[in-house]
Amino acid sequence: MEPAAGGGQQARRRPALLALLSTSLLLNAVFLAHHLFRPSRVLSAVGDGGGSSCGLSWTLQAAREAEAVAAVDCSGHGQVFLDGVAGEDGRPGCECNACFAGRDCSLHTPNCTADADSGNPLFLEPYWRRHAAASAVVISGWHRMSYIATGIEKMFQSVELERQIRRLHRAVGNAVVDDKHVVFAAGSIQLINALVHALSPDANAASPPARVVATAPYYPIYRTQTKMFDGREYRWGGTTALWVNASRNSTDGFIEFVTSPNNPDAQLYEPVLGGSAPVIVDHAYYWPHFTHIPAPADEDVMMFTMSKPSGHAGSRFGWALIRDENVAKRANDYVQNSIMGASRDTQLRMLGIVKIMLANLHGKEDIFAFGHDVMRTRWRRLNAVVSRSRRISLQRMAPEYCTYFKRIREPSPGYAWVKCEMEEDDDCYEALLKAKIITRSGARFEASSRYTRLSLLKTDDDFEVLMERVTDLVNAENYDEPASSSTTLVM
Ligand SMILES: Cc1ncc(COP(=O)(O)O)c(C=O)c1O
Repeated sequence: MEPAAGGGQQARRRPALLALLSTSLLLNAVFLAHHLFRPSRVLSAVGDGGGSSCGLSWTLQAAREAEAVAAVDCSGHGQVFLDGVAGEDGRPGCECNACFAGRDCSLHTPNCTADADSGNPLFLEPYWRRHAAASAVVISGWHRMSYIATGIEKMFQSVELERQIRRLHRAVGNAVVDDKHVVFAAGSIQLINALVHALSPDANAASPPARVVATAPYYPIYRTQTKMFDGREYRWGGTTALWVNASRNSTDGFIEFVTSPNNPDAQLYEPVLGGSAPVIVDHAYYWPHFTHIPAPADEDVMMFTMSKPSGHAGSRFGWALIRDENVAKRANDYVQNSIMGASRDTQLRMLGIVKIMLANLHGKEDIFAFGHDVMRTRWRRLNAVVSRSRRISLQRMAPEYCTYFKRIREPSPGYAWVKCEMEEDDDCYEALLKAKIITRSGARFEASSRYTRLSLLKTDDDFEVLMERVTDLVNAENYDEPASSSTTLVM
């Protein structure tokens, strides 16, 4: 019976209980707020369409910076890059496409010169913007700091990337990979000399240096790079036309470059010398957005690059497919001795890119369908204007059956090989320059200066300016008689 005493104790305990209860409520509220509004949740709600990003912590700052830069408005005529030159506010500003200027690239320069010189594959930029989330790569500060990549056997190459590249070739059907060794390099440009070295007689051998040759018009870097490294093993031998008869008896001592489809004229070429001369086939453009794929390529030594199929030229990544183990080993030694293997950061980025390409093949977002659509539209539009001209003409290309699309597809070359038809225009580069079009002269490809190359690979803005200037050039032609029907359009 001590109710009074008990009641007194309860009365004394009540404030303590209330304090405990409110502390607990407060703590719960703090935990709940932390859970609901922590930065990763806010980011996920804004950034990835509602997908979960639980557990994100150290990537957030980098992700915010990347998204902030990507969100800057350059009026659709420029880009901001994370490593762009910082302005007064400490932030990188818009880098405008050619013929656009101003802080936000909204100022169009009228009557601007069209620059159709370089093979910069920026026509694919809109594709990757559409796939911003899937193609973003996070590189940690400690990602593959070692010289060694994946293991003892493939010390400098990502085993997984090699596996995905093999899958891509099989899925596209543009190369036989099962009996080939894969050698990575810093762009296929590095493979030019790596493969010439690998196929040349040993420096100590009694045989004379190999002659490196190509059929004109050819990609000029075969010549400039071979000449740069000219030495005991090999030297530049000029065009195949010089040797085709001489080599009829013996093709010993030659290494022939073949580009298929060719840069600059987009034709599928075969070796010319034949016999025992080793051939390096450059398949930079042997992908369904640039050409039909009649069959998987299966030459002994093939070069590929990521620059043209995905458009990531700046990442500098190429690979060779080589049948013979010893040739592959020599090519690999070259890459090892010059750069210790392709950049591991690049290999990581390429892994993500190849996986997305694979995931979308034959779907709504197929990169080759996208690329083919852009390139064939450009080719069709250019042809429509040039077909009215008697002054310039283009290479003829016909629709062909493509094993990848499983249908006849319209041509979609990366380059237009322009011929100046008028007697006075014997320097076609100069003739077009006067019309405010920068091209790459046929002389650079060891062809006649009557020809010049237009790149069709650049941005939409570049292509639109090119169309304006070509249209001006053609409209300025003035004849008494209408053009003959021989200039009919060949798609
Ligand atoms: C035929 C050909 N081979 C090789 C290359 C070099 O490509 P990469 O960017 O991989 O060095 C190019 C680039 O334009 C090319 O046109």
